[in-house]
Amino acid sequence: MRRLLRWSVAAVLVASGAVPILGLAVEPAQAVENGLARTPQLGWNDWNSFGCNINDSLVRQTADAMVSTGMAAAGYQYVNIDDCWSDKSRDGAGNLVADRVKFPSGIKAVADYVHGKGLKLGIYSSAGLTTCAGYPASLGNEQRDANTWASWGIDYLKYDNCGQTNGISGPTRYATMRDALARASRPILFAICNWGSDDVRSWGAATGNSWRTTGDIGPRWSSVTSILDAQPGYADASRPGAWNDPDMLEVGNGLTETESRAHFSLWALLNAPLIAGNDLRTMSASTRSILTNTDVIAVNQDWGGRQGNRLSGSGSTEVWTKPMADGSVAVVLLNRGASTATVSTSASAVGLKAASGYSVRDLWAHTTGTTGGTISSSVPSHGAAMYVVSGAGTSPSPSTTSPSPSPSTTSPSPSTSPVTRPCRVSAVVNAWNTGLTEQITVTNTGPGAIEGWSLVFVLPGGQTITGGWNATYSPGSGQVTAKNLSYNGSIAPNASVSIGFQATHAGSAGGPASFSLNGSNCTVA
Ligand code: GLA
Repeated sequence: MRRLLRWSVAAVLVASGAVPILGLAVEPAQAVENGLARTPQLGWNDWNSFGCNINDSLVRQTADAMVSTGMAAAGYQYVNIDDCWSDKSRDGAGNLVADRVKFPSGIKAVADYVHGKGLKLGIYSSAGLTTCAGYPASLGNEQRDANTWASWGIDYLKYDNCGQTNGISGPTRYATMRDALARASRPILFAICNWGSDDVRSWGAATGNSWRTTGDIGPRWSSVTSILDAQPGYADASRPGAWNDPDMLEVGNGLTETESRAHFSLWALLNAPLIAGNDLRTMSASTRSILTNTDVIAVNQDWGGRQGNRLSGSGSTEVWTKPMADGSVAVVLLNRGASTATVSTSASAVGLKAASGYSVRDLWAHTTGTTGGTISSSVPSHGAAMYVVSGAGTSPSPSTTSPSPSPSTTSPSPSTSPVTRPCRVSAVVNAWNTGLTEQITVTNTGPGAIEGWSLVFVLPGGQTITGGWNATYSPGSGQVTAKNLSYNGSIAPNASVSIGFQATHAGSAGGPASFSLNGSNCTVA
């Protein structure tokens, strides 16, 4: 049975300007809350192929290639400059400046060019006094540098962990940059690169949009598999807006075509940021077809945001699965061994309910078949097969479009709505056998800013919230109060905030009812 439920509520919410905020304490910054990376970020970074050998032409040509090769159409967006882009010293005023030889027109000109292609530009620094390659980094200059990058039009920061730290802890150094970026004049995706140190799994989601879980990847199959083996320990830490990062892709770099396909399949299933690390300008047709496999990318971009994990292993073969938002399951059958092997699992083992048959979409062959329950493939050495398996009534192939809860598509109809609505709530519930995720978007349609808010709603019986983002939820069942975290404390007129949660359910997978904001009832349409 298809269990995707989509609904919206239009709610009469209180005009914030007219409502006193009754003792809502401003909570300390607890999350990046920048609205970015609701699905894992897709892009390119120069480091894996070019190291310090970078310049203006490479970045512009890569932006051109991202469009001309179909990567942009497949969803890739960020063109990211890594280490070695700046002068070896700051200018007289203390500001970072671009290397005049590598980037003679400066970074802003590059950003303008990249933006002109419909893409976004990323930059790099470190939470220490120097970058890993010895260039000036941002410790002690966080706000200055965040402001500089914003003024150039930067959209993404990869923030490394090299250089002297002046004895300041990792979580504090990264939180300082998070807060500096939040105060900068444009949204900047914050990609933490601290190689899994300082127990980043416990604070990464509160600080960045993604965080590296391991040391650097290399262009070798052994590097891919050793990083892979570190990932099961992280699976629970990620969620929409906050992703585990097993490092950039080596697709097309030193791996065979079979290995590249397996690497891409696994990184997609892990909800990894998919950041290509090859030379897009010269890539082979086969590398290009791997990177632009939209069936695989759709698994990575599934808006439910549940990370895949290793289900089972036997010798050198493994089964990895990811629950999809529509109730289907993405499955990777991996063969790490030296010769071809048959890798098998079953619909019930991957978590699908009993059914007389299942639909099986082969994400590399781009074909759809059926099975009575067995999921099996002859997989070459260092290869992977990848499927999306659906029970009766579930969608066989995931959509590449995230059904984000856009308020603009859920406007209340005039016949059921008052003329003036100070704000609007839309919600999307997405359920599978025993769990669900829900995203709620609150839009301020009133004339004044909402300064601090508290949204009360009633969960259907049997539902218990197990985790959430962009708000605190208390208690986890029955009548729940969602309070904004600090970033979303203020909602400007016409602006929206999105909050969301995961919950378990005991059969009733409907959405909550009886919304009220700051003590005033909301209408549920
Ligand atoms: C570290 C990072 C790499 C790369 C280099 C640049 O090693 O982990 O991804 O950014 O620094 O010097």
